[in-house]
Amino acid sequence: MARLTLKKLFFFCLCLSAFFFLVITFQVMKELQRARGGRSPVNKQALSGSEHLYPVIVWWSPLTGELSRLGECGANKCFFTINRTYHLHPATHAFLFYGTDFSFDSLPLPREQHHHWALLHEESPKNNYKLFHRPVITLFNHTATFSRHSHLPLTTQYLESLDALTSHGHLLPLAQKNRLRAALAPVVYVQSDCDPPSDRDAYVAELMRHIHVDSYGRCLHNRDLPGHLRESSAMDEQDFLRILAQYKFILAFENAVCDDYITEKLWRPLKLGVVPVYYGAPNAQHWLPSNKSAVIVDPDEPPERLADYLKRLDENDEEYLTFLEWKHKREVSSEVLLSEMRGRQWGLQDLRQDNYIDVFECMVCNRVWENISRQKQGLPAKPWQAEESHLKCPRPRLFGFDVGPSNGSSLRKIWRPSYDQSVKEARALRHFALRNRNFTEDQFWTQVFSG
Ligand SMILES: *[C@@H]1O[C@H](CO)[C@@H](O)[C@H](O)[C@H]1NC(C)=O
Ligand SMILES: *[C@@H]1O[C@H](CO)[C@@H](O)[C@H](O)[C@H]1NC(C)=O
Ligand SMILES: *[C@@H]1O[C@H](CO)[C@@H](O)[C@H](O)[C@H]1NC(C)=O
Ligand SMILES: *[C@@H]1O[C@H](CO)[C@@H](O)[C@H](O)[C@H]1NC(C)=O
Ligand SMILES: *[C@@H]1O[C@H](CO)[C@@H](O)[C@H](O)[C@H]1NC(C)=O
Ligand SMILES: *[C@@H]1O[C@H](CO)[C@@H](O)[C@H](O)[C@H]1NC(C)=O
Repeated sequence: MARLTLKKLFFFCLCLSAFFFLVITFQVMKELQRARGGRSPVNKQALSGSEHLYPVIVWWSPLTGELSRLGECGANKCFFTINRTYHLHPATHAFLFYGTDFSFDSLPLPREQHHHWALLHEESPKNNYKLFHRPVITLFNHTATFSRHSHLPLTTQYLESLDALTSHGHLLPLAQKNRLRAALAPVVYVQSDCDPPSDRDAYVAELMRHIHVDSYGRCLHNRDLPGHLRESSAMDEQDFLRILAQYKFILAFENAVCDDYITEKLWRPLKLGVVPVYYGAPNAQHWLPSNKSAVIVDPDEPPERLADYLKRLDENDEEYLTFLEWKHKREVSSEVLLSEMRGRQWGLQDLRQDNYIDVFECMVCNRVWENISRQKQGLPAKPWQAEESHLKCPRPRLFGFDVGPSNGSSLRKIWRPSYDQSVKEARALRHFALRNRNFTEDQFWTQVFSG
């Protein structure tokens, strides 16, 4: 009898511990799944059918490469897919486009009244000028671009943190830079993408006639890097950064000149403790760490004047150092930069933070859900509309300097005609988008040349 009870008790305990083991395993699995967020690939079985439960969002440009997944955005979930057969699926609410791939030859037309279009374009206008015109940019409802006006501004996409900016990791004392001047020019230039729309090489070629510039890249090359640094992938290597940090000035010239289009070209010298000589976003002053942290190039002044100014700073330590005061004090005073960096919801190469593609996807998912809940409350849909200012860049300008006959037929001459052509393409594209039926390539080009 007693033996039997003992046996029963033993089995009871065994069952109890098995039960708790199962419960705990289940909890751990749930936690793990939550920690992995929506980004982990979800197996097919779990997905099948979820397009009927959740709004479908189609990546029309297959940027993420993931066929389908259920994305979690806070309390909301959306079914993201690159499968274009969902175009006219009743659960499809939004289409995501990557700017560089946005092309007339396949658009999700017809576009239903409830189809949100969202554009992610962080790149230079040179990659797709037709997006940069009112008729095309206003076709979108949601934007994530380099413009501070867009719904998800990516202006600081090349700046990992304020700490990186104020770091003294590469900063050399001025006395050392002065000693190095025996072997080095005061100014350094490293570009291998020659003759882009900003026409920087024409300007720099003229500047080089008036001040000594060490040019390590393919454009206007006059000095070699050590063998192991000649690949463009070496641009982030410590050895390369150490070479740049020895200079007093870095020519930081963007490939295009548009407000808010700021790249690593500006941030790199600031991080290294070298004074950038900047040509690019006309409003860059707002984004600089302090009101005196870069020499801003005025394209209307002759390069010779800039050369004279740089020579003066090269000879006057006290004046040169005023450009590094913010760096020595580790003081960022730009309100625009501070508030952007503190409020930014994404990070760069930072596993603790989402990247901006995730944040873009969730912005759209949450807005789609916002409409669904408004609908439930009997409220009208909230309109979302991209504006011209969300992606804007003026016609490229050509400098008037004589760059020599050998470059006469070079790339630099194509940007203006290509921009002018893109204005016509933008108008034709809008025409067909509003007509709301698909169209052939022939029809498109006929419209471009007649419009
Ligand atoms: C795309 O989705 C459809 C269902 O809408 C499915 O039949 C098809 O197999 C999918 N394509 C791929 C490549 O998975
Ligand atoms: C808003 O959501 C409702 C319910 O899903 C849908 O019927 C409607 O078309 C949506 N409108 C927009 C503009 O998203
Ligand atoms: C112009 O052509 C010359 C000779 O081919 C070349 O050395 C120079 O680098 C070119 N200019 C630019 C900006 O690449
Ligand atoms: C820059 O800021 C400092 C301190 O905030 C101020 O004293 C100075 O006048 C400003 N200079 C310019 C050119 O705005
Ligand atoms: C999205 O933009 C289009 C084009 O401007 C517009 O017709 C549509 O109403 C917008 N949808 C929403 C939900 O705001
Ligand atoms: C438009 O789309 C339909 C259905 O996908 C296709 O059959 C037709 O060929 C397309 N027409 C044009 C002009 O591309």
